[in-house]
Amino acid sequence: MTTADRAAAAFQQVYDRAPTGIWSAPGRVNLIGEHTDYNDGFVLPFALPYRIAVAAAPREDGVLAVGTLGVDGNVQHADPFPIADLEPGVVPGWAAYPSGVAWVLRSQGITGGADLMVAGDVPAGAGLSSSHALECAVALALLGLAGLSPDGDEASSPTRQEIARWVQRSENDFVGAPTGLLDQTASLCCVEAHALFLDVRSGKSEQVHFDAAAAGLEVLVVDTRASHSHTDGGYGARRAGCERAAEILGVPALRDVEVTELTETLARLPEDLRPLVRHVVTENDRVLQTVDLLHANRLGDIGPLLSASHASLRDDYRVSCLELDVAVDAAMAAGALGARMVGGGFGGSAIALVPVGLHSDVEKSVFAAFAERSLPKPRLFTAVPSKGAGQDR
Ligand code: GLA
Repeated sequence: MTTADRAAAAFQQVYDRAPTGIWSAPGRVNLIGEHTDYNDGFVLPFALPYRIAVAAAPREDGVLAVGTLGVDGNVQHADPFPIADLEPGVVPGWAAYPSGVAWVLRSQGITGGADLMVAGDVPAGAGLSSSHALECAVALALLGLAGLSPDGDEASSPTRQEIARWVQRSENDFVGAPTGLLDQTASLCCVEAHALFLDVRSGKSEQVHFDAAAAGLEVLVVDTRASHSHTDGGYGARRAGCERAAEILGVPALRDVEVTELTETLARLPEDLRPLVRHVVTENDRVLQTVDLLHANRLGDIGPLLSASHASLRDDYRVSCLELDVAVDAAMAAGALGARMVGGGFGGSAIALVPVGLHSDVEKSVFAAFAERSLPKPRLFTAVPSKGAGQDR
């Protein structure tokens, strides 16, 4: 059964009618370009084959009802809430994510109530954007019920990037996580067999062909099972530091600092801000170098850039943690060409670029390193660039 089928079946059972439609959105990994999005910089994510599906039908009373199908087969219900009364802070827990989307769409004139049923297989809390997948699927569902689709021809059809910005607003202002545009854009705009090269400032993007298997390689994801959160201060503190540095330097964002001017630029900053700036500026440069290598069909040469990204996130940006470092080091020791943490950090997942023949060596090495430190067993899977969000039926 696909996640869409599971969402549809649970919808029928709980609401005693068929859904009007089913929409779904994927989780993502970011190949490179971490903590650059809110600095107006560059990112290079691709979508995972794991998705969150939302079965939906309209309601006449302006109320949003959300149920979510757990892995145990039980449905958890959020308290039904009138969309007209949604305000930041009024909806606790996981239901804040779908409610925030309804809240932001209300400001776009989309006010109709809906019954929603959520089912998915994006690992939660793994730094693979399960919450963004949920938000993007809910956004497409509520838009779809209002007769709007990002793929529609009508002049009123919102673009995928517009929807990504709405979803970001719901997350920033309703859920209270000061995140950037990376995850929503990845979930909405990625396509199969490609990574999405996005210039966050201009909104310009390019689908860059990414076929690891053709190069005899794979991108292995290590979900460390160390939990993380972007509402608890560490993420916001880094972001505030970047904004303060840009202000001192008199530039709109750290994107405007050239890597060739880094040494002189750092000298103009207080010591505590220098590592943050060094990370962002060098990371933007690594994204551009990675894209150049992919354009030159040299996927096998991007490994050192991935590893340099990890070192920078660990030592300068200081958002790694024991589990992520153990995963990266163990993968490298077993022959990975490069490895790095992905997402916001403080837990979640790492990726490793691995020759196909070394898959089981890397896996064994990672399991052994975790066992040696008595860390819970991580979950490993191979990530293949998959399609972005859309209507399933
Ligand atoms: C989280 C945020 C993104 C981005 C990454 C770090 O995933 O949601 O906006 O800032 O962290 O690159």
